[in-house]
Amino acid sequence: MSEQIRILVIDDDEPGRQVMELLLKKAGYAALSAGDGAGGIALVKEGRADLVLVDLFLPDRSGIEILREIRQVAPELEVVVITGHASAETAVQAMKEGAFDYITKPVNFEELKIVIAKAREKQRLTLENVYLRKQLQARFEFKNIIGNSPAMQRVFERMQRIAKTDSTVMILGESGTGKELVARALHYNGRRKSHPFVAVNCGAIPETLLESELFGHAKGAFTGAVRDKVGKFEAANHGTIFLDEIGTMPMQLQSKLLRVLQEQEVERVGGTKTIKLDVRVISATNADLEEQVRLGSFREDLYYRLNVIPVNLPPLRERREDLLPLVSHFMEKFCRLMGRPVMTIGKSALDALERYRWPGNVRELENLVERLTALTEHDLIAVDDLPGEMVEALQPQQGICLELSPDGIDLPGALEELERKLIVKALQMSGNVKARAAILLGLNRTTLVEKMKRLGIS
Ligand SMILES: Nc1ncnc2c1ncn2[C@@H]1O[C@H](COP(=O)(O)OP(=O)(O)OP(=O)(O)O)[C@@H](O)[C@H]1O
Ligand SMILES: [Mg+2]
Repeated sequence: MSEQIRILVIDDDEPGRQVMELLLKKAGYAALSAGDGAGGIALVKEGRADLVLVDLFLPDRSGIEILREIRQVAPELEVVVITGHASAETAVQAMKEGAFDYITKPVNFEELKIVIAKAREKQRLTLENVYLRKQLQARFEFKNIIGNSPAMQRVFERMQRIAKTDSTVMILGESGTGKELVARALHYNGRRKSHPFVAVNCGAIPETLLESELFGHAKGAFTGAVRDKVGKFEAANHGTIFLDEIGTMPMQLQSKLLRVLQEQEVERVGGTKTIKLDVRVISATNADLEEQVRLGSFREDLYYRLNVIPVNLPPLRERREDLLPLVSHFMEKFCRLMGRPVMTIGKSALDALERYRWPGNVRELENLVERLTALTEHDLIAVDDLPGEMVEALQPQQGICLELSPDGIDLPGALEELERKLIVKALQMSGNVKARAAILLGLNRTTLVEKMKRLGIS
């Protein structure tokens, strides 16, 4: 299967344009076309093309003007101009204006394919350069943690300062933002690195077992305690204990944990001797602990003891600059693991990812890249390779936008606008047959007609 590069042909000569479109499709490209400059620019603005072929002589404006406009609205798009023999001078001008290349009519299709391949290679290198430049800008680095966005750079700066200390750290962030990764980096960049890093997922261990998991137990302490057991705190001695999902810890255990942290010693369940501890504590949560404190489900004193230095990991949707570096990082990783040549991502596919909301944050992105690496045969990821829900994000007018600007919104106005757009969409989808559109919208026909009248939809 060939790469699905979307090539836009802008040419007023209809038969010529159709032949070109057909040839391109046969060669495995996704072709689309426009008969004049305005139509072509509109498609470019909608982000529908990866590459443009434009005829230099068009009825509404010259190819040069179109070229300039494309350079303005989509500077990363490469434009190839097609010209008659007589217009070599104009072709030279087109090159000066930033066209990638020009070919003369009649078009030799093999030559055109080579030019297209070269243009794509240039786009790929440009993307890589952007990535490398961003990498160089990164002042602080932790191995395997990618993040050049200002938000992540602030996180790294803070990590750099606290890794060397013994301070108690609380990592806050949505699911999949890298809390455990950061906890490990703090440990392995600090002076305790040759001692154990012990992670306990407080949410995954049944309440009845958690106490003996954390603190250990003596033989015979309870039914089933057939031998002495070393708890996680003891196991982490001289190293770091990572208390993940701390918000799920039951109240009764919270008091015991607080005592262990204050006394810096632990007693196994049913045991008699106390064991001195030297353990660094890092906890993490995706819950709102302050709220839990207010509601009385989390001890305030424990909260303050754990939250000495907070580290906030921003959700991926608030640091879109990190998307390309993360995608490249994961692609490299999975391609290496799966023994295939390194893949790249096309501009429009990257645009789609940048508009997606990423509820599962970096973990969701990592899983997506793994899936793409395993299932995609070609080496350039295009929009068509992405799951539907991500591509839909490309057409925000069809989805429901839940972003709320800090300035607030006019809710009734926004709802009316949404209603209007959905009705227009339903009418388009049903060939303007109102009865069918009404079914699509779950309305009866009369209600639909009333709404159309009110909203001024003809
Ligand atoms: N900045 C990053 N750079 C590289 N990989 C990352 C980054 N952030 C997260 N990851 C990767 O994403 C995955 C999820 O990260 P991690 O398990 O640390 O998240 P988490 O915040 O602990 O999630 P949860 O709340 O669901 O436990 C891991 O495979 C991790 O390696
Ligand atoms: Mg985690």
